[in-house]
Order: sequence, then structure tokens, then C-alpha cells
Amino acid sequence: MLDGKKTLFSGMQATGNFTLGNYMGALKNWITLNEEYQCFYCVVDLHSITVRQDPAELKKNARALLALYIAAGLDPVKNCIYYQSHVSAHAELSWILNCFTYMGELNRMTQFKDKSAKYSDNINAGLYTYPVLMAADILLFQSDVVPVGADQKQHLEITRDIAERFNSIYGDVFTIPEPYIGKTGAKIMSLQDPAKKMSKSDENINANIYLMDDPDTIIRKFKRAVTDSDNQIRYTEDKPGIKNLIDIYCSATNKTAQEAVKEFDGKGYGDFKLAVGETVVSILKPIQDRVEELNKDKGYIDGIIKDNAEKANYFAAKTLRKVQKKIGLPEKIR
Ligand code: TYM
Repeated sequence: MLDGKKTLFSGMQATGNFTLGNYMGALKNWITLNEEYQCFYCVVDLHSITVRQDPAELKKNARALLALYIAAGLDPVKNCIYYQSHVSAHAELSWILNCFTYMGELNRMTQFKDKSAKYSDNINAGLYTYPVLMAADILLFQSDVVPVGADQKQHLEITRDIAERFNSIYGDVFTIPEPYIGKTGAKIMSLQDPAKKMSKSDENINANIYLMDDPDTIIRKFKRAVTDSDNQIRYTEDKPGIKNLIDIYCSATNKTAQEAVKEFDGKGYGDFKLAVGETVVSILKPIQDRVEELNKDKGYIDGIIKDNAEKANYFAAKTLRKVQKKIGLPEKIR
């Protein structure tokens, strides 16, 4: 609880092209929830370097992500939109929490297993302790709720475990956060292999809808989406391609799967894919236009970066000081 409101925290990595999965699993819910909570939306640039980054690209992507948050509808005055690396308390709390996290717990993280298989030439300690930095992000702001896609559920569980462990030793220091995983869009799958999650690191560009794809590209990618051959629009596990398209349609329109199936009763896959594509375009196009506008106004974005870093530092420092005191680190003499 901060300033009488419950607190919401979430973030995205500043790596590469942002996908429809990022939008539907996370960003869309951030917008729905933002009036109700005191919100912190972080560009998690420190998490991004767990995979080798080109410095100029990282910088560009971090700024693009910050602009995307705003363009998608988050008011940067009401919400604190900032870079993780501008608030050193994230890294400091992360170190402390490392000392309250067991290797056995980190060994169980499926994202670490997946990423170390994918980046086998760079299995660094940061990749391993990624969830601890994520716990620090969340706990620093005494967050009540954390809206994320389904793939982050395990990281939320370990965050809760670390917080409960710490609280059981030192008293009620941290709020125990709840994950918020949307009913639709929590796991958007690849358009080329619906058994796999849509992921920005996928090398097949047709597998992903990127948030900055132009309308023709979006429609073309949906037309090419892998489905099956029976030409019946049904929401069932044994039709994963069609199920994924229905999920995307439902997330975009806030309809239920049942309503969507009824709407397309008797229609073929061609019509259905086109309708899904057009619906997605109608959501992304206004966001893309706003990104373009924002990119023209360097001073405005710079001002937001500066003001919100100050605000985030203020709240983060409060929790960090409390933690340092509890564990017996000596106070600074002023
Ligand atoms: P990142 O950048 O990998 O993902 C950002 C958000 O997008 C969601 N997401 C998806 N949702 C549905 N379908 C998909 N195919 C899909 N792909 C990605 C993710 O679940 C996530 O919500 N570790 C976090 C970043 C982070 C964070 C935090 C989040 C760092 N610290 C603290 C919340 C709180 C991540 O997955 O980033």
C-alpha cells in the first residue's frame, strides 16, 4: 500500500521487437488495471543483459519500450514509467535477496532451463539469478499485484517464497504479491508452431506479430498461420492453431471463445483469419501512430524519464532502508 492505494508493479525486457504476446499477456492488462492501483511500470534493462546485447540496440530498444508503454495508453504522470537501471535499489535489494534464495529453488526455474539450452555458450550467473532480481523489483515497491503472462507464474511463486521466508525471520517487511494472469491472452502461441509460445527470440518472423508490424504484414502473417485441414472453427486442444487464433480474437475483442465460435459458425478459415488480422490491426495501428508522434518529441520523453526515476527512487529507497536496517547493515552517518 503506497499513498492509500494498492500497488501494482510490472515490467518488460528491453530486448528486440515486442510481440502481440507481450501486449495481450501483459500490457493490455496493465491498462485495464491502472486506474485502480498506484502503478510502477518498469523497463527492465538490467534483466535484458542476461543475454548478450548490442549496446546501441539496447539503448534504442529501452527507449522504444518506454514510448510503447505510453502509446499503449499508460499515462506517465499518473503511472510511474521508468528504467530499472535508474533505480540502483533494484540491484542492491537483489543482492540481499540472493542471500535468502536457495540454489535448489533456482535450479527448478523452467525459464532458466529453456534459456540455458538456447544460449548454451553464455550460461551466466545473471541468467541464473534472474528471478531474484525480479523478486527485488516487485518487493521493492511493496506490490500487491503483478500482471504478467502465464510464463511468469513460476517467477511470481519464487518471489512469494522469498518474501515469506524473509518476513518469517524479520517480521512483516514485504507485502506478499499476487500474480494477475488474464483470462484471455495469457499465453499467445507462435503462428507457425502453435505448440510453442510466441517469443521475440523466435527466428521465424512469420511466427510472431510484432507490435510495430504494418497492417499488410499483420494480415499476411495471419493468413499464413498454421492451422489444420478440417476447416471447422472449434475451440479445442486438438486444434491448437485455431484455438490460438480464437484466443487472440477473444483477447482483442473481449469476447468469450463460445461467442467467437458462434460468430464464425459456417465460415471458412480464410474469412476467420482475415477477421482476426483486421481486429489486431485495429488495435495496433493507433498505438503505432502514437509511438511515431512520441518519437518526435524527445524533450517530452526525457522529462518523463527524469521525473519518474526520481519518483521510483523515492519509494524504492524506503523499502531498501527498512530491509538494510532489519538485517543489521549499519546506518549511514549524515
Ligand atoms: P518479458 O519481456 O519476457 O515479457 C514481458 C511480458 O510479456 C508476457 N509474455 C507473454 N504473454 C502471453 N503470451 C506470450 N506469448 C508472451 N510472451 C511474453 C510475459 O509473461 C511478461 O508478462 N521476467 C519478465 C520481466 C520482469 C518482470 C519483473 C515482470 C522483470 N521484472 C517484475 C513483472 C514484475 C518478463 O517475462 O519479461
